[in-house]
Amino acid sequence: MDMQPIKARSGNHNLENYEQTYNNFKWDETKKNFSWSETGKINIAYETIDKHAEDPATKDKAALIYSSPDREETLSFDQLKRKSNQFANVLKKHDIEKGDRVFLFMHRSPEFYAAFLGILKTGAIAGPLFEAFMEQAVRDRLEDSEAKMLITTPDLLERVPQSELPNLEKIILVGDSGSDEYISFEKEMEEASEEFDLEWVELEDGMLLHYTSGSTGKPKGVYHVHNAMIQHYQTGKWVLDLKDDDVYWCTADPGWVTGTSYGIFAPWLNGVTNVVRGGRFSPDDWYGTIAEKNVSVWYSAPTAFRKLLSAGEDAAQKHDLSSLRHILSVGEPLNPEVITWGLKAFDLRIHDTWWMTETGAMLICNYPSVDMRPGSMGKPFPGIEAAIVDNEGNELPANQMGNLAIKEGWPSMMRAVWNNPGKYESYFINGWYVSGDSAYKDEDGYFWFQGRLDDVINTSGERVGPFEVESKLIEHEAVAEAGVIGKPDPERGEIIKAFITLRDGYSESDELLEDIRQFVKNGLSAHAAPREIEIKDTIPKTRSGKIMRRLLKSWELGLPTGDTSTLEE
Ligand code: WTA
Repeated sequence: MDMQPIKARSGNHNLENYEQTYNNFKWDETKKNFSWSETGKINIAYETIDKHAEDPATKDKAALIYSSPDREETLSFDQLKRKSNQFANVLKKHDIEKGDRVFLFMHRSPEFYAAFLGILKTGAIAGPLFEAFMEQAVRDRLEDSEAKMLITTPDLLERVPQSELPNLEKIILVGDSGSDEYISFEKEMEEASEEFDLEWVELEDGMLLHYTSGSTGKPKGVYHVHNAMIQHYQTGKWVLDLKDDDVYWCTADPGWVTGTSYGIFAPWLNGVTNVVRGGRFSPDDWYGTIAEKNVSVWYSAPTAFRKLLSAGEDAAQKHDLSSLRHILSVGEPLNPEVITWGLKAFDLRIHDTWWMTETGAMLICNYPSVDMRPGSMGKPFPGIEAAIVDNEGNELPANQMGNLAIKEGWPSMMRAVWNNPGKYESYFINGWYVSGDSAYKDEDGYFWFQGRLDDVINTSGERVGPFEVESKLIEHEAVAEAGVIGKPDPERGEIIKAFITLRDGYSESDELLEDIRQFVKNGLSAHAAPREIEIKDTIPKTRSGKIMRRLLKSWELGLPTGDTSTLEE
């Protein structure tokens, strides 16, 4: 679908002149907004919450508006400061030190946000886990990070294989467990002081681990430092276009990077009221959230927009959505069809943004004051140098497809892959961070996403590594070999499709396939379970034994199979 550019609407935007700003901007300018640029004392939790709590003008302003089918709660900056202080005291009491990994495995709730900020206040490193993870996914992450403490809820506890995690010293349970075996969040909080002597850290000290999937091996711990706040703050201002009286809603779960960088840091660094919605997706609840909370800035994902689109116009018309003034998207290609729908449904453009777990914050974006070319991810953020490079890291001319790459050294860049320096190094070629996405840049500097260059699957905006799914599949008693690919899907972007061979003695049946599907779902997580499973006589492999997922994909899509010279006999 080829669409005309959509003109920027005039308005009072934080970033008025993109070109001029891009040509002149230096990150040092952003630093002046932080008190640490003078005091030298740094902690991202201070800048997100305490700073606003200390200011009489914002002390009682709503920081968090939490809303779920069974709970409504609002916390001011002052209240969130006190609660996170209390939790930091709890952590200190239980011997948490700067640099320790403290993981959170729980549903979105006010307690989650207080705990997360409390962890940062002690100088420890927070590791939020997606609530849908099952036992193996939880184990892999706690094991690799050598987490010392976990905060979870009674209903998720059974997915934590405690006996296999020797480094995990303590578990804090949120919600009554009825047992003395674990530390009670409520009891400890009641006893804890609301005053806390914050651990001041260096800009380059660690604060966050997000595990993410590549095409090989287990998920990797992407390590972020306090310095990322510079970019969270500035992108919040210029891309989210946040202003003091905005009510902002980011729909992402804090188990994924969007839910921390833009569900916690960007809005609060900018002192803006942040809506968090718990519970499952439903068009009525989502539109209802916008209407009831008067959401003005909304950051979501193509999958969600596509679901709302298919729910029809009636679903939207039941609600007053007139508070909305700015909408953004991330995680997958944003179809021009969705943008057209957005113009009709909200009378607003949906602004695509591109970035990754590893990049920590937005890098290529559409801005309110810039004309938009539907289907394009937009232009690099000021201070960011983006290019299309070949495999040796040489820049390619306009309109040529290649590796989407970013010049090393932006503020929120990951600083390590946990326990895996080789993996970290492998991202960089010739001074460029190479993203693994293919794209091209047009002659006017707009970037256009083309696809992944590796086998990573993007299903409903969630990154899934085929290796993880394959490993789980072959643990099933009936499965001999497995190859997993992403298959294009109109609503989810991609779905997970598995090709398997059966062990002797097993034959194909609907029950068996469903059993295998459930096995992956119960072992890893619902979003990693294959929606389609096809039984084959053999799985194509290279002579060195690597599964040829590309060939599986070509078969699936009915495409030419290309070079198969490395195929095993
Ligand atoms: C994909 C999410 C097309 C891309 C913040 C990237 C996108 C991966 C876009 C990172 C976009 C993200 N258009 N594709 N606007 N944004 N992606 O680490 O393949 O969960 O490499 O970070 O999602 O996913 P991750």
